[in-house]
Amino acid sequence: MKTRKKLPETVYKERPLIAGMVKLDANENPYPPPEEVVEAICRAARLVNRYPPEPRRLREAIAHLTGVEAENVLVGSGSDELIDLIVKAYVDKGAKTATIYPTFPMYERFAVVAGGVVERIPLNPDFTLDLDKALEVLSDSVDVFFISNPNNPTGVGFPVGQVEKLLRLGVLTVVDEAYYEFSGRTALNLLGMYDNLVVLRTFSKAYGLAGLRVGYCIASEEMIQTLLKVKPPYNVNLLAQEAALAVLRNRDLVLQRISAIKEARNRLYEALKRLNGVKPYPSETNFILVDVSETGLTSEEIADRLFKLGVSVRRFGRFEGFQGDFIRVTVGTPEENDRFLESLKAVLEEVSS
Ligand SMILES: Cc1ncc(COP(=O)(O)O)c(C=O)c1O
Repeated sequence: MKTRKKLPETVYKERPLIAGMVKLDANENPYPPPEEVVEAICRAARLVNRYPPEPRRLREAIAHLTGVEAENVLVGSGSDELIDLIVKAYVDKGAKTATIYPTFPMYERFAVVAGGVVERIPLNPDFTLDLDKALEVLSDSVDVFFISNPNNPTGVGFPVGQVEKLLRLGVLTVVDEAYYEFSGRTALNLLGMYDNLVVLRTFSKAYGLAGLRVGYCIASEEMIQTLLKVKPPYNVNLLAQEAALAVLRNRDLVLQRISAIKEARNRLYEALKRLNGVKPYPSETNFILVDVSETGLTSEEIADRLFKLGVSVRRFGRFEGFQGDFIRVTVGTPEENDRFLESLKAVLEEVSS
């Protein structure tokens, strides 16, 4: 049946993966969860005949981790759900949402589905923030502003001082820190000063629980109370709650893996820089954006050929108004990164021969 709503195009159609493929297309953590997490999930599995409890313990653990009160924390089924809840609560039909561009597409999608109007603030050609442009746009009756810091898909982080200048305008500002653990940049310390700030984080990336869907947002108590009004009951399932608690108890291992991923990222970046025709962008995250426009192949052709060689990366094509043709590769284990590099070299050699 046809919907009467005007819906955005599907942004990305996932291809079914073949067994044994190297999956470097969704910025996931390449390492399986710590054993204690698996045990916690198995224990919780015996109780799934019941609805999950209100995630009070998880909110308290996150509050402890981040230095806020549990009343400032809301947990969601991935940060995707929290973006949706924020839009549901604050974006009316015709309301104006602003995002940087290019960025994570879900802000725009949810806003459009809610009937909002979206204004994109183009980044500078090197994907840093055009602060003057952002100040100009946000001064013109914007209801909600989303900024991913560091940004996906570019990997570039913005100085928190710039974010603060934007916060001063009083617009409800969602700072999405999905990759915070890799970058260390955070706006969290500004929370006491700006009640228009929402910080979003996730267990999907550094904490390696993408398959369970757990994200959280930190904001003023008043804003959390507003979001609770639009939140469905039982939105974070029992296995997800228990796994998130267990992974927080295993933070030492998580921190070791974060260091390993950062080291592997730097090695991957250096190796990509040495390849003819490809231009990697420096990244503060667990992925690298690569301009392949000088290779003689399109990003689509490169991604397709890599896929045939057993490596799945994300292709972006061209960003409207920007030079370049892009793929994004997630940092995997050192072995996975080597597979990717060898495959990419093979693809590039085929073109030049
Ligand atoms: C910037 C950003 N925000 C949010 C998300 C969604 O994360 P989650 O798995 O918590 O829904 C992603 C996932 O790639 C992301 O890159």
